Order: sequence, then C-alpha cells, then structure tokens
Amino acid sequence: METIAKTRSIEEILGKYPGRTRSDLIPVLQDVQEEYGYLSRDSIREVSAYLGLPASKIYGVATFYNQFRLSPPGRHLIQICRGTACHVKGSQTLLEALERELGIKVHQTTKDRRFTLDTVACLGACSIAPVICIDGNFHGRVQLSEIPEILAQYE
Ligand code: FES
Repeated sequence: METIAKTRSIEEILGKYPGRTRSDLIPVLQDVQEEYGYLSRDSIREVSAYLGLPASKIYGVATFYNQFRLSPPGRHLIQICRGTACHVKGSQTLLEALERELGIKVHQTTKDRRFTLDTVACLGACSIAPVICIDGNFHGRVQLSEIPEILAQYE
C-alpha cells in the first residue's frame, strides 16, 4: 500500500513560493497533492489566501488539469503508462480493461476506496512495455488476461 507521507505542513509548502505570483499556482497545487495525495477543501482555502486568488479560480484550474485530485486517493494507486512504447504495445486496451474490471474511469477511485486509476507519461521502463505501476511496483509486458491476477495482489 502506498503511504502518503504528511511530513510538510501547508505553511511549509507555501513558504517555498515567496513571490506569491499567479504562476506559482500549478507548482503549489502539484506540491500540495504530492504531499497529501489530493487537494482538500482546506488546502485550497489556504492556497487561495496565500496567493490572493479566489478559491473558484483554483477549483477551475484543479478540475481542468486531470492530474489533480479533489478527493483522497484509494489504498492502492494504479498508474498505467501512456508513453509511446507502451501505447504501441497496447496500453489503451489495458486501460479500458482496467476501467471495466474496476468499474471506474481513469482518475477515479473505486467505491470501496481500494484502487485509484491514473495514467502517467513514460515510466522509464519501455523495454518491458506495456507497463502498469501499482504502489510503485512495476508490472511489465502485461497481458490482458493477467489483469485480475495482478489486481488480486493488492487487497
Ligand atoms: S513508454 Fe511506458 S515505460 Fe516508457
């Protein structure tokens, strides 16, 4: 299971951006999400106050870029590689199979909060494409038929 370390407070994260400019928004949101796994209502409120931007603007940005999550991720984070090598080896078909198997779309979390499904750019393991990374564990040369067996490893 992926452990999301909450070692830095929001204040510490915001302190890295003393310029408080509008262009800090996306890096700040990326930083907050990296630390907490998602953008909570409270964190958005604090970012809004710090950068002097309306919360509605921040929600607009967070929903426009699908890299951001507004609710906590599931216990296991599935990242399916959408890089070129994996695409050529059928990652789109794997993604669709995962969506069917889990009953969710990409960037969503299952109702039981067991899995969150995300896509990523090249994971740097093109020689074993197509690659699925779950909680940091790489599964390479994944065949459609192996998906249930792979998911079963993550309760
Ligand atoms: S393209 Fe998937 S690991 Fe490089």
